[in-house]
Amino acid sequence: MTASTHDIEKAAGVLRAGGLVALPTETVYGLGANAEDPVAVARIFQTKGRPPSHPLIVHIADAEHLDDWVETVPAAARLLADHFWPGPLTLVLRRGRRVPLEATGGLETVAVRVPDHPVARALLTAFGGGITAPSANRFGSVSPTTADHVRAELGDAVDFVLDGGPCQVGVESTIVDVTNETPSILRPGGVTREDLEAVLGFPLAVPSTSRVRVPGQHPSHYAPRARVVLVEPEKVVTEAELAQELGHQVGVLLPPSFAGATVKAHALVALPGSMDAYARGLYGFLRELDERGCDLIVAALPVEEGLGLAIANRLLRAAGPRPPA
Ligand code: TXA
Ligand code: MG
Repeated sequence: MTASTHDIEKAAGVLRAGGLVALPTETVYGLGANAEDPVAVARIFQTKGRPPSHPLIVHIADAEHLDDWVETVPAAARLLADHFWPGPLTLVLRRGRRVPLEATGGLETVAVRVPDHPVARALLTAFGGGITAPSANRFGSVSPTTADHVRAELGDAVDFVLDGGPCQVGVESTIVDVTNETPSILRPGGVTREDLEAVLGFPLAVPSTSRVRVPGQHPSHYAPRARVVLVEPEKVVTEAELAQELGHQVGVLLPPSFAGATVKAHALVALPGSMDAYARGLYGFLRELDERGCDLIVAALPVEEGLGLAIANRLLRAAGPRPPA
């Protein structure tokens, strides 16, 4: 069920009153507040259980409004905004005075994006200001890609949930830092590195790909309850069966090369062949394996091209070491 005009007006009213609204975007659902209301912004951190030093993204209705939120717009930023907005690209720029430090975690830079979802854009237009929104999940867990996921994560802690159907991209936006002469990718996401480089005309630095970053190096994030173990693609079935024999309830993200194979495991998700469909489904697959009672998920990293880079990044983070229980 998708939000009506009445729902959108109601949600805009909730934002004006300092409340929190969960909103659909093309990437994942966000937990939104009036970006210019420091008290409402503080409630986001409380609700998510997120440390206040982690900066948020400010969502705006239109690329034309970018200048209102930042100090200056360098040429590379303008180029990327013109090309990819509305869309799954976030630009980090010098903070404009309008943005409270609460939203930027105290930084003098701000992350901004124009989402490409009719409900998000209708809400931004009806509200008339910026909406600061992290993904609408508890800190560290899997981002929600349906309104039901949001309700399962946050329940009554959010004042209103706008339903915009399942998210079409499924992984978060690509974050590009354009505050320095040389733009760099801070987080791979829905806009591919290849597409960004084609528009910019030069290669971009990507801080960490799986080739240089082994699982276990970074604290977990984007993580299901079940522990995630990454193995070579050809070993997915044997490793899953071994862990199952050892007494685990194993969930498997089964690569297309194994399509139709019988696997002695607790639960199985047959991965789609296209990276678009994999990205769209990824967080739902992880939630499904949790719900089916798996305590261990065995998966392989996809090739890090196109959306495969973002998928590999999220799987690596999901497989990172957990804080002590
Ligand atoms: O697709 C998305 O980006 C979703 C939807 C809701 O828009 N939002 C999202 O927000 O993923 P969140 O808060 O889960 O992730 C935002 C990321 C964080 O990793 C944060 O560190 C980074 O953006 N970020 C925000 N402001 C920043 C800044 N000024 N400098 C560097 N990184 C920043
Ligand atoms: Mg998040």
